[in-house]
Amino acid sequence: MPLTEPTSPPLPKAELHLHIEGTLEPGLAFELARRNGVELPFADEDALRAAYSFDGLQSFLDLYYALMAVLRTADDFTELADAYLARARQQGVRHAEIFFDPQAHTARGVPIGTVIEGLSRALDRAPETYGISTRLILCFLRDASAEEALETFDSARPYLDRITAVGLDSAEVGNPPSKFREVFARARNAGLRCVAHAGEEGPPSYVWEALDVLGVDRVDHGVRCLEDDTLVARLAAEQIPLTVCPLSNVTLRVVDRLADHPLPAMLDAGLLVTVNSDDPAYFGGYVDDNFRAIREDLGLGEEQLRTLARNSFRASFLDAAGRDALIAEVDRHPARIS
Ligand code: ADE
Ligand code: ZN
Repeated sequence: MPLTEPTSPPLPKAELHLHIEGTLEPGLAFELARRNGVELPFADEDALRAAYSFDGLQSFLDLYYALMAVLRTADDFTELADAYLARARQQGVRHAEIFFDPQAHTARGVPIGTVIEGLSRALDRAPETYGISTRLILCFLRDASAEEALETFDSARPYLDRITAVGLDSAEVGNPPSKFREVFARARNAGLRCVAHAGEEGPPSYVWEALDVLGVDRVDHGVRCLEDDTLVARLAAEQIPLTVCPLSNVTLRVVDRLADHPLPAMLDAGLLVTVNSDDPAYFGGYVDDNFRAIREDLGLGEEQLRTLARNSFRASFLDAAGRDALIAEVDRHPARIS
């Protein structure tokens, strides 16, 4: 049964775990490839889509980084962000905190300023154009060195007024959060907030390190925290948000099927969980598609979905007034009739 009548808009929500490079749809990828003279190793969009079958995080990352070759100019990044925001609006997104991976671009010779200027052009007009407020989160690639992360942070210093937080992503296992202690301390000293992917494929000890070594405000994914009762108690007591991505977890084989997803157990444990889309162009849906999927496959009811929507604003980096205004919109949103 739908949460709302088919004609009513989706629940207002914040997207807190979204890699902008993971919103690169096949159509735009081929258009940018043509425009920039980049040859893709796929004959057409269908051949590219056929490659969207992954046996874990690394097999996805290999394609994700390869396809970024089409992103070259500031205009490309503006177009990418505009395409995401237009879709996000349709999905009820009112606030988006957006990751980007500067090292994946600078390694190809695209300057960090080109990336940030291009993204900023779309994000700056997003409130008027799409009714969406935004924040930018600069992620370090954890499978690159700690020194490279420090250099990346220093190269971003001229742009820190556009950046709200730093994050940590890419291949998790073998790259624990503690490797990035120094760059996170530097970011915090510069007034930035901190988040990190932890407990997606990596063990609960990585979640502990994200909290105790990096001092994160939120944990991205974090689903493997359930293997450690003491950790769950800590996360629940401190109401540290976990940005969970259900369709991503199915596509990357973190869980076998959506019906096995631990989201209901996480809610029952009193965790501050949010629902997000991660890399929606690759994982079969944007954020409201994730809401629809968990309603259908996990049997979550209207009140749980409303809680998840409220949580998304509670867990955001919005100020208290902005958060409260959007939570009030969730409360006022029309419920389904039957
Ligand atoms: N980069 C893009 N998507 C990611 C994910 N799900 N985990 C780690 N790094 C990523
Ligand atoms: Zn992610």
